[in-house]
Amino acid sequence: MSYPYQIRSLEQYHHQYKQSIEDPETFWSGIAENFYWQKKWDKVLNWNFTEPSVKWFSGAKLNITENCLDRHLDILGDQPAIIWEPNNPAEQNRILTYKELHQRVCRFANALKNNGVKKGDRVCIYMGMIPELAIAVLACARIGAIHSVVFGGFSAQSISDRLQDAKVDYIVTCDGAFRGAKDIPLKKIIDEALLSCAFVKKVIVYERTKIPVVMQPGRDVWWHDEIKNVSDECAAETMDAEDMLFILYTSGSTGKPKGVVHTCAGYMIWANYTFVNVFQYQSKQIHFCTADIGWITGHSYIIYGPLSAGATTLMFEGIPTYPDAGRFWEITDKHKVDILYTAPTAIRSLMSYGTQPLQNKDLSSLKILGTVGEPINEEAWHWYDENIGHKKCPIVDTWWQTETGGIMISNLAGVTPSKPSYATLPLPGVQPVLVDEKGNEIEGNDASGNLCIKFPWPGILRTTYGDHERCRLNYFATYNNLYFTGDGCLRDADGNYRITGRVDDVLNVSGHRIGTAEVENAINMHSGVVESAVVGFPHDIKGQGIYAYVILSNSADNTDTTRNGILQTVTKVIGAIAKPDKIQFVSGLPKTRSGKIMRRILRKIAEGEMQNIGDTTTLLDPAVVEEIKNGKL
Ligand code: WTA
Repeated sequence: MSYPYQIRSLEQYHHQYKQSIEDPETFWSGIAENFYWQKKWDKVLNWNFTEPSVKWFSGAKLNITENCLDRHLDILGDQPAIIWEPNNPAEQNRILTYKELHQRVCRFANALKNNGVKKGDRVCIYMGMIPELAIAVLACARIGAIHSVVFGGFSAQSISDRLQDAKVDYIVTCDGAFRGAKDIPLKKIIDEALLSCAFVKKVIVYERTKIPVVMQPGRDVWWHDEIKNVSDECAAETMDAEDMLFILYTSGSTGKPKGVVHTCAGYMIWANYTFVNVFQYQSKQIHFCTADIGWITGHSYIIYGPLSAGATTLMFEGIPTYPDAGRFWEITDKHKVDILYTAPTAIRSLMSYGTQPLQNKDLSSLKILGTVGEPINEEAWHWYDENIGHKKCPIVDTWWQTETGGIMISNLAGVTPSKPSYATLPLPGVQPVLVDEKGNEIEGNDASGNLCIKFPWPGILRTTYGDHERCRLNYFATYNNLYFTGDGCLRDADGNYRITGRVDDVLNVSGHRIGTAEVENAINMHSGVVESAVVGFPHDIKGQGIYAYVILSNSADNTDTTRNGILQTVTKVIGAIAKPDKIQFVSGLPKTRSGKIMRRILRKIAEGEMQNIGDTTTLLDPAVVEEIKNGKL
């Protein structure tokens, strides 16, 4: 496949960027010409950020799976679409060509239909990283069902919250999932979640780990039975450009996770355009994105970006350190990976094992490296550059969010310059602005402020499921006429952007977004807890760790047993990813007279900053600060 819209030089980048800003509609309709449409659009863009309402390619009809599968069959039919590497290296890997993937997606789409799934129904997918997860996602898209993938690390309660919020009709899951030395009982967790979700009609179960499961007659069916007597063909549903493609839950600064909604046409173009340009994908290359499909990175850069570009995407079931810390390098060597896209936290973790796991691994196939999810510190950047890329692979530091659908600020591999710890320049179509507290735009270079975007790009979220007002309040109400990212940012003398981290109450733990309010709610569910406050602190591997200050109803309970009980409660309510690293028992929290917790002070103490914690005179009880300082863990 060729990509006429692939930017090949710095000069071309500047030219394209300029065009995309001066005449976005002409620019994006030119890009859209490279896709397969059942009917073309009447209008490229309608938008306002006040409602907000953003519509790309109004009137167009398409199906994203025709772009990801059918249109490749003639020329790329026998090329690998998915290379799957199992958790256990002793198990055989699997390769699905475009023809095979197309056939399996059609078969499963027919199975979904036979089970009653219709266009517009919500399907929750809770599976491990196996090809059938990608097949389930694409099968939903094939028939116009809205998929909502939930990461396999979330607890039954988190799942049931999401099932209720999205009014999910159907679930696709596995008996279990292999992850490192663990075998996670996915079906059992689903059964528990469903105790409070009687509205779910059917559960389709793929057999992966063969652990015993309970199948509820009438509700639960086996994947392998359902695909037995179905056709290999399934016509792609005709979708409107702005029909919902998927919902993906993500944490914000308040309350429960919100269901970010992406729609068919804009998301497809954005995932594809950013994939082709940022990674400079060339025909036949093997792209290895190590993210889980439960997160946006997996949606956009394991499934939709690569497959819409006719690429070969490598999907890995396991974790970087199992059976040893050489697993990524072994996979790279075995499959001759060209592009490796991973998270800074994984790099830091692997760095801590030294270079021994790299011995006897041939990494010479690598051409491009990428990072995503959190700021990358310079030490990790250089380790990646020297030991993995051998100083010959450009590193792309890609800044984006669940809400942006795809990469927003990044260098283009080997085309625009990189700068360690900087995401560098915006992609065509992206208009970043820095604002001060009052929302005034800070112009000129050498500036810092809160990062906003002032014009829609095709991949922008359209709403938060079931609650449009929440979308408006979260992203479009802080600053007039701007999309607010929640990130702090600085711009250097050359106009390069460096993301400095969240400015709201959202933590980024090992590249996962976790709301402090969510963790506090979970801790407070422990029967011995009166109140808690959660902040982040710098963590060598995770980037940020979770520090919880907890008031107990009986202060004599300040034991490890209570600590473990709190950890168990958080695991039950959210999942193990949200477990605090440190729990400090305190007798009070620093509050203003109006009862507001002064998180700034708690953050400083958690960071180990004991001197300059700022003004404490407005506190109701300043003495509590001394006690907290003395008890710091
Ligand atoms: C952070 C992940 C610095 C940022 C794709 C953002 C980054 C949040 C980078 C979104 C980067 C992501 N440099 N920070 N290259 N990439 N972030 O929704 O704080 O899971 O707001 O999307 O991760 O996380 P999300």
